[in-house]
Amino acid sequence: MGFRVAVAGASGYAGGEVLRLLAGHPDLEVVTVTGHSSVGRTIGEVQPHLRHHADLVLQETSAAVLAGHDVVFLALPHGQSGALAAQVADDVLVVDAGADHRLVDEADWRAFYPGEWHGAWAYGVPELPTAEGKQRQRLTGATRIAAPGCNASAVSLALAPAIAEGLALPHDLVAVLAVGPSGAGRSSRPDLSASELLGSANAYAVGGTHRHVPEILQNLSLVTGERGTVSFTPVLVPMARGILATCTARLAPGIEEAAVRAAYERAYGDERFVRLLPAGRFPAVQHTTGANTLLLGLAVDAAAGRLVVVAALDNLVKGTAGAAVQSANIALGLPEQAGLPIDGVAP
Ligand SMILES: NC(=O)c1ccc[n+]([C@@H]2O[C@H](COP(=O)([O-])OP(=O)(O)OC[C@H]3O[C@@H](n4cnc5c(N)ncnc54)[C@H](OP(=O)(O)O)[C@@H]3O)[C@@H](O)[C@H]2O)c1
Repeated sequence: MGFRVAVAGASGYAGGEVLRLLAGHPDLEVVTVTGHSSVGRTIGEVQPHLRHHADLVLQETSAAVLAGHDVVFLALPHGQSGALAAQVADDVLVVDAGADHRLVDEADWRAFYPGEWHGAWAYGVPELPTAEGKQRQRLTGATRIAAPGCNASAVSLALAPAIAEGLALPHDLVAVLAVGPSGAGRSSRPDLSASELLGSANAYAVGGTHRHVPEILQNLSLVTGERGTVSFTPVLVPMARGILATCTARLAPGIEEAAVRAAYERAYGDERFVRLLPAGRFPAVQHTTGANTLLLGLAVDAAAGRLVVVAALDNLVKGTAGAAVQSANIALGLPEQAGLPIDGVAP
């Protein structure tokens, strides 16, 4: 028998994706699932596409129910995991899909989130360049991991290699993202209803107010130590899941595309889940649907003096549940790719 796993928030989108991925994992066995309004119902009732765990019954989300496992995945609304996680034994691996433990600077938390700050955990994007090499090193042996924000991982991985090597400037970054409504979770909201969304597109959190802004700046300063600026605008579009992030940065003087491509190959050439496409090719969201894959395409816009990087990922896989499982694999000393598909679902 492998590691015994509990998934809190298993009735939601992120928790459901953790279950889907772990159904194919050789070493992590889900034995407990918890919910909130759906307590007492089975996974088969609330997540009919998840056959593997269909008979598990959702229990209440409490420290008592989560006790006695080797690994606990938390997929709860932000603000709900901080106090709960504090009651889980120190030697249990806890992976939080929420935002409660992502931000290192308490002032960032206070500026963007309500409620108490609970401190930062090891950040769950293994491929992110850091001063020592890669974020992966900080995840080895960790017992507390903060999985990333989906938009934040797309933009950070898209721009980090160029900024880390000084090829693009950390200030004046611009990111405009097409995002699907599953990024907002399962609870119904009028602006996420089919009648409002189908045949339309609308920007939200315009003007630097989105909660992923400080997370992006934190990630991009890991190598340089310098905090830049990003103009970040998500646009809600009618696709159930996925993010297409178009990110641009001012190029340092004299930088040509070959030098930028070489930097991205150095950063990601050996990575399984983050891949740069050949020159002239750009990813589509569908190429990453269901996969723990982030695809990048880049070009240099010489006339504008800007680097353009287009990133596609599945917000529920590489953007959250896949990153959570990948990071847990590293922390537990398991093969990093265990349970994680690289192929998307198309058409
Ligand atoms: N969706 C994404 O693309 C994405 C990406 C990255 C990170 N995340 C993060 O992952 C977390 C979960 O997001 P989601 O999209 O899965 O949301 P969701 O679909 O709305 O699911 C929320 C889950 O939390 C439970 N819950 C709701 N209120 C609760 C409470 N007061 N106490 C305990 N449990 C409660 C729900 O249970 P019931 O259904 O039984 O009420 C459900 O299982 C969030 O922190 C989110 O920021 C999501």
